Amino acid sequence: MISGNVLVTGGAGFIGSQLIRKILPLSSHIYVIDDLSTGQREAIPSSQKITFIEESITNKKVLRSILPRVEYIFHLACSNLLKSVEDLDGDFKTNLYGGYLLLQSAHTYCWDLKRFVYASTCSIYGNASVFPTPENYYKIRLPYAASKFSVEHYCHVYYRLYQLPVTVLRLSNIFGPGQSPTNPYCGVVAKFFEAVKGKEPLIIYGNGQQTRDFTFIEDALQAFLLAAGREESIGQVYNVGTGRETTVSELAKEIKRITGVTEEAIRYKPKRLVDIVERRTIDAKKIQKELQWKVNHSLSEGLKKTFQWFKGERINESFSWDS
Ligand SMILES: NC(=O)c1ccc[n+]([C@@H]2O[C@H](COP(=O)([O-])OP(=O)(O)OC[C@H]3O[C@@H](n4cnc5c(N)ncnc54)[C@H](O)[C@@H]3O)[C@@H](O)[C@H]2O)c1
Repeated sequence: MISGNVLVTGGAGFIGSQLIRKILPLSSHIYVIDDLSTGQREAIPSSQKITFIEESITNKKVLRSILPRVEYIFHLACSNLLKSVEDLDGDFKTNLYGGYLLLQSAHTYCWDLKRFVYASTCSIYGNASVFPTPENYYKIRLPYAASKFSVEHYCHVYYRLYQLPVTVLRLSNIFGPGQSPTNPYCGVVAKFFEAVKGKEPLIIYGNGQQTRDFTFIEDALQAFLLAAGREESIGQVYNVGTGRETTVSELAKEIKRITGVTEEAIRYKPKRLVDIVERRTIDAKKIQKELQWKVNHSLSEGLKKTFQWFKGERINESFSWDS
């Protein structure tokens, strides 16, 4: 069980901000480091128990001042997949050097670290040929996959060399409340909801037959809590996904069904440089067996909750889905 002081990097982003909400009642104080490059200050709940530091995780001074105070680190700050092909230097600096620096600083300054949870990604499986893809597979092609996977290796180095209590979670297509479409790099689910709201066509890159393993945020957050709270997770790498395969076309149809909006067309565009994955479904038996993690939401249930959040958020903007 998490208690004491916590650091969340990337806490102004989608998963980080939802994680903060989840752990706020459990922790004494939460420090958030985020440079707001894609995150939003308003996504972080306001509380006396939260200190927000608008800085990069590559700022050594900031790490030196915050890390001696924390017992749990959730490392989520990242430069995303789309940006990685536009700016390899930026990807390397934030994702690889930033992750390395955080591990090194945790080793140097955290005198009572209980857990370092690293949010890694199933992007390291690339265009896989084994399904559902297990943890021992990898196929690196994009810079984002290379930098994120490299930090996994450094997690192992710090665990094996210095016994730093690390746990790696490889997340697969997380969606749900809090995934802001104002972030231009947000995932496809938020993009589709935003398109429906704006009465715009739903854009699909490629023929729509590519599959993804869409995982609801609530289920993903449960994995973070288990990773941080269970002794068995130290030094381990876990897939976090449903094992369920959904084509992007099916996703679009389901979102149209749930929102009750039928008129918006689906528009197909050529694949982008990052669209290399034909199939994605991952094997999460390890986390299910070892940490008793469960998938509690079907895709439909998750999308319905996401729709509610979208509607609620837009009440302030006088938006009506029925108009
Ligand atoms: N969302 C998904 O489907 C998914 C899937 C696999 C892995 N992940 C991993 O989960 C983590 C969180 O993803 P997310 O979807 O919440 O992303 P996000 O883009 O919403 O959040 C990332 C946050 O990191 C911040 N950031 C970027 N560079 C920074 C820097 N140099 N210093 C400090 N902060 C910085 C951004 O401002 C943003 O708030 C990432 O590490 C990502 O690789 C996410």
